[in-house]
Amino acid sequence: MHLSREDENILKGESGAGRQAAMELLVAIGEAFDAPRMIPINRAHAASSGQEGDLYFAQILAEGGASCKVTTTTNPIVDLDYFQRYVAKEREEASVASKTKNFYKQIGAVMSQSCIPYLAENIPQYGEHVAFSESSATPYVNSVIGAMTNRESIQTALAAGVLGETPEYGLHLKENRKGTVLVKVQADVSDTFSYSLLGQYVGKKIASGIPVFTGIPQRPRVDEYIYLCAMLNVPGAIPMFHIPGITVEAKTEEDAFAGGKPKETITVTDDDLRQTQKELETASGPVSVVIVGCPHYNLDQLAGFAKLVAGKKVRYGTEFFVNTSATTKLMADRTGYSGVIEGSGVQLVVDTCIDMFCWNNLRDKAGMTDSPKCAYYRRFGPVKLGTIEECVAAVME
Ligand code: F3S
Repeated sequence: MHLSREDENILKGESGAGRQAAMELLVAIGEAFDAPRMIPINRAHAASSGQEGDLYFAQILAEGGASCKVTTTTNPIVDLDYFQRYVAKEREEASVASKTKNFYKQIGAVMSQSCIPYLAENIPQYGEHVAFSESSATPYVNSVIGAMTNRESIQTALAAGVLGETPEYGLHLKENRKGTVLVKVQADVSDTFSYSLLGQYVGKKIASGIPVFTGIPQRPRVDEYIYLCAMLNVPGAIPMFHIPGITVEAKTEEDAFAGGKPKETITVTDDDLRQTQKELETASGPVSVVIVGCPHYNLDQLAGFAKLVAGKKVRYGTEFFVNTSATTKLMADRTGYSGVIEGSGVQLVVDTCIDMFCWNNLRDKAGMTDSPKCAYYRRFGPVKLGTIEECVAAVME
């Protein structure tokens, strides 16, 4: 792999141990994928988790004097203030999360703590090279925006943010962005939940590659895209997709496959989506907790949710949590959605993720969610999966 003189010097440690560690990681990745060189990037998103592996690398960078060269946003790392009442039991995990957050701040990362940063805090442009990790972020950025990123890990995205560059391989090259699997959608996909199940089904069925969806009835809404993107990467590793005539890099099906043929063709029916839902459900009776917002709800979703819960109340003895980003919450506060939502007894939570220790107090309770990803990674006990309307009906009246 060819390195510039400046990169060689970074690799030798001449600009500090932090940048050296970042360069060592990216050179190793580049060599593994036969990248010819490094290319500049304009922005990065690290899917920070506040867990041990995340702490380990962030600490090496921070203590080695590294700082972000380009805008680098972060995923949720638990909001300790909000969850103070729970963390007493979970001190150790809380302190790992807290230390990790401080190291991110030290290296100059933007503390967006959002899993949908591409909507507000860190928006790539069409054709731009970036380094984004996070299940929904990578396919959204590649497919919906048309920027170019590989499916990064927390550490490779952070290293790229510190160096302002990434190895040139994979989806940074036009020839690797063509479709590989034709997905004929015969199922009725008409809301966020059905797009979630579609993503979950296709991710599991094909595991990897670039699906090309046909039969999508109209341009998906932003939240439908987000939930499709996220779920593709729960059972699968899908860095991008095309919807001919709708997503930016494929006007036609022929375009999507760059004139070639799909390696595989699958169809998706209503039965497939129903079966996907059933496979993730482990509860059948009443539930005592609902968690939605995985990925974080955007402002449109909060607007719809506020309409849905207006005049209702969370039943005594049950809890309802909605995850969102701090930026979205601010807009929801100003617009009045938060008042309606919180007035109904629903807890609007920022900066955190369903995968974090703060939900451990729910581990013996039966729960419900509208997100296959949340159902898969849940911290609570047996789970039901349903539309947001069904979630509301389960614990509100
Ligand atoms: Fe976001 Fe965590 Fe779900 S990062 S997508 S809330 S698993």
